Amino acid sequence: MTTISTAPVLELRGISKAFTGVQALNGVSLNLYPGEVHTLMGQNGAGKSTLIKVLTGVYTPDHGQIVLAGQSIQPQSTLDAQNHGISTVYQEVNLCPNLSVAENIFIGRYPRKFGRIDWAGMAQQAAELLERMQIKIDVTVPLAHYPLAIQQMVAISRSLLVSAKVLILDEPTSSLDEKEVDLLFSVLRGLREQGMAILFVTHFLDQTYAISDRITVMRNGEREGEYLAADLSRVELVNKMVGAPAASETATPAAAPIAVDATPSRFKSFLRAVGLGRKGALTPMDLEIREGEMLGLAGLLGSGRTEAARLLFGADKADSGVITIDGKERSLSSPRDAIAAGIGFCSEDRKHEGAILDLSVRENLILALQARSGIMRAIPLKRQQQLAEEYVKALGIKTASIETPIGSLSGGNQQKVLLARWLVTDPKLLILDEPTRGIDVRAKQEIMDYVSALCKKGMSILFISSELPEVLRVSDRIVVMRDRKAGGEYPRGALDETSVLQVIAAGDQHA
Ligand SMILES: Nc1ncnc2c1ncn2[C@@H]1O[C@H](COP(=O)(O)OP(=O)(O)OP(=O)(O)O)[C@@H](O)[C@H]1O
Ligand SMILES: [Mg+2]
Repeated sequence: MTTISTAPVLELRGISKAFTGVQALNGVSLNLYPGEVHTLMGQNGAGKSTLIKVLTGVYTPDHGQIVLAGQSIQPQSTLDAQNHGISTVYQEVNLCPNLSVAENIFIGRYPRKFGRIDWAGMAQQAAELLERMQIKIDVTVPLAHYPLAIQQMVAISRSLLVSAKVLILDEPTSSLDEKEVDLLFSVLRGLREQGMAILFVTHFLDQTYAISDRITVMRNGEREGEYLAADLSRVELVNKMVGAPAASETATPAAAPIAVDATPSRFKSFLRAVGLGRKGALTPMDLEIREGEMLGLAGLLGSGRTEAARLLFGADKADSGVITIDGKERSLSSPRDAIAAGIGFCSEDRKHEGAILDLSVRENLILALQARSGIMRAIPLKRQQQLAEEYVKALGIKTASIETPIGSLSGGNQQKVLLARWLVTDPKLLILDEPTRGIDVRAKQEIMDYVSALCKKGMSILFISSELPEVLRVSDRIVVMRDRKAGGEYPRGALDETSVLQVIAAGDQHA
């Protein structure tokens, strides 16, 4: 905890912003003080990102005022906002992976000496900036060489360079593993000590409580309230987000384990992989996926979970192993083969494999189904509309209509459409790789319950998530991965969070 000074560095006064058909923000006010971490929370589509975009000059507000250090400002672009001392770090780092760390920090403001770029001076200053955040790395190698967490630190250090007063982070932690989050948080604490005002957006309750001094809850484009983190319980927070009465227990995030009525022995094998591997990506492993069963892959980021999933889907080519489906040997050398075999893959990579931003919700949703039935056999428009309406309702997708471009949906709602894209194909095996990333805590639980119900009806699911409690809650069986290999298989109930981490930490002795 830090002391909060009395004068806010940044004041938002009555900010409103409408898009066609949506009042995204309605008279939102917010004060940000130097030396505090202020977390913005709210359900998908509540208006968090829009508020940040207004603040950073991406959108012009319809009404309201932004006051920075007592002066009214009207940022016209992110660069303009940055020049005012407001820096932003998004989840998807917008840096240049091929340039060196130092170049990334200094992009647009390379230091010069005698008319030439002063490479040595630049490297030295970059190293110093990072050292202020306790990070000692070689700044002359390409940024891509480092994990995402470090890349985000690089983005943050840029803001130190322009001597930012306000640092904004919109869901920066959703792709980081636990260690990386710790690293980011220790950097944020250091910056807070130095008097930086930090505005943070996340859907993770643990993170909110680990770092926040204050919490502002948004609901339906309005400010629901502002609270000291220490005064607000988790249950209260969730209830305020969804607008339920304070006494309601229904929104408690710690949900009970899902009951299974089938005993594991009743599950029939659907897919069996023996010695499945790929050099440098996955040490050969065996895997069995059974009908009507949810198989969880637990492990840290980079442990080989996604690599295993991509081999099963034919997105990467295996260089060893045999896959049998329903007892018959199958070669899955491309996603097309996998889709034909009844496999769906909802990937974590929203940017590269995901949403096509200028296509409508309906078109995005129908994409995988259309791919399976072949380009020549167009799905009738009527049927498309039916399916789109059905899934928008089932997953609670917040959109003006099914014809709205997906790009104008909030991040969490885009993710729901991508999940629906695969559900609509009614696959025999659905691979879910971080399917609920960016989805708010209430919706997350509803979606996993929905998916579990499909599973009980016979769909097989391979579930990958960095959120261990969720994996433990929904999986019938769990394979723990580490160092790009399988580290053991466990039935439901055999593991808790601590024992999973022990298996991960145990190294080879448990294999
Ligand atoms: N460019 C846009 N055009 C049209 N509508 C938009 C646009 N950007 C946002 N909206 C709408 O404004 C509302 C608020 O969206 P916003 O992205 O601010 O939500 P959010 O709180 O960040 O949600 P999430 O947690 O899912 O990221 C949503 O209904 C969204 O569909
Ligand atoms: Mg958002």
